[in-house]
Amino acid sequence: MDQLVIRGQRQLKGEVAISGAKNAAVAIIPAAIMSGSVSVIENLPCIEDVTSLVKTLNALGAVCEFLDERTLKIDSSFVDKWEATDESVRKIRASYYLMGALLGRFKKAVVAMPGGCNFGSRPINLHLKGFRAMGAEVIEERGGEVIRLSAERLHGANIFLDTASVGATINLMIAAARADGTTVIENAAKEPHIVDTANFLNMMGAKIRGAGTDVIRIHGVESLSGAEYMIIPDQIEAGTYMLAAAACGGDVTVKNIIPKHMDSLSAKLEEMGCRIIEGDDFVEVISDGILKAVNVKTMTYPGFPTDLQPQMSAALAKAKGVSTLTENVWENRFQYVNQLRRLGCDISIDGRVATIRGVDSFTGGEVNATDLRAGAALVIAGLAAKGETHIGNVKYIDRGYEKIEFKLRSIGADIERVRVEI
Ligand code: EPU
Repeated sequence: MDQLVIRGQRQLKGEVAISGAKNAAVAIIPAAIMSGSVSVIENLPCIEDVTSLVKTLNALGAVCEFLDERTLKIDSSFVDKWEATDESVRKIRASYYLMGALLGRFKKAVVAMPGGCNFGSRPINLHLKGFRAMGAEVIEERGGEVIRLSAERLHGANIFLDTASVGATINLMIAAARADGTTVIENAAKEPHIVDTANFLNMMGAKIRGAGTDVIRIHGVESLSGAEYMIIPDQIEAGTYMLAAAACGGDVTVKNIIPKHMDSLSAKLEEMGCRIIEGDDFVEVISDGILKAVNVKTMTYPGFPTDLQPQMSAALAKAKGVSTLTENVWENRFQYVNQLRRLGCDISIDGRVATIRGVDSFTGGEVNATDLRAGAALVIAGLAAKGETHIGNVKYIDRGYEKIEFKLRSIGADIERVRVEI
């Protein structure tokens, strides 16, 4: 088992380059099998979730080849299976995009219910309701562990999402790209990776309009071709390094990003007392490590992202004064708080609201990541803590952060990965 060992309280200084967006990659890779030809995806992050999805695509009959570390060629001409139920499918949440992709292409799909990070119930009822509206029969087998979808004909439909779900928006958009007629998704989510997936599908010949707004229109087409596509930078990875710089103090340029995607975080960091300098493709965070308390509410894009909520908690835990953090997206995304408390953070939870009383400094200790972003929060707390912090369950962090210890070392952190016997 790997552990991250951090000796904290080093100022962070320098430049860090951000990788491709995990949540775009995990949608675009399954979408690539819609065409039945060759696509090349560039700027993929080197993370476990990508590795797992490639295994799944290979098991379906696709021929996937990495042309270099970040460029994946997917030949989907030989895909002849529509059942994805093996172990690699269950490992990651985004396997649910195989439902849209296989249903769109073959009009049938059998997909195991996804795993991934666990923070409360993670229903996919909106995905399934949308597929039904498009004419699919949906059968939940083995107590809902496996979803079987089939359609004589997949047709366009008007779909209103009760909640602006990222996954449902993307999944329905993928399936609708090859349905007969026009699908309209209302109350669609607007996250950057939704626009990115729509752009990729459009490059394959789909006709999707309005991605990035709350009404998306998809005019189904009979066939799609392959495409070459470069995915966008990871907004959440970028935000994690920005928050690390804010909490530790220093001067860090987070580069290869789309600064507009960072607006909600940049605004909060300024309110917390950091100086933010924005360029065409970078944001520089200058912090003296002394932060002010603020109130934050997570929302769908362009609001403050839930995927930066745990990392923001860690930074606010050393801000002067009392902050509140309201989680509006997930019902139970505060499980990591117990771990932060072990490092001396003073955080209390009441339902969806965390009250954070800033302390002058944290002290290192032994903690465990409980999910991907929780792990990132512990890294930030460890970097700001006095003494040594050991973080276990690094596998969660590896699911979504490429070479985190190398990137942090390059900006002055004292962090290493060690193998421990269990
Ligand atoms: N929801 C439903 N029914 C559904 C789908 C969602 O009630 O059918 C509810 C959920 O319970 C939740 C809310 O809608 O309360 C939002 O869920 P959403 O569907 O938007 O989340 P998701 O698509 O499963 C993606 C990201 C998450 C990120 C959320 C919110 C991927 C693979 N995952 O999940 O990312 O937290 O959107 O932005 O894109 C992460 O990267 O750490 C991560 C967890």
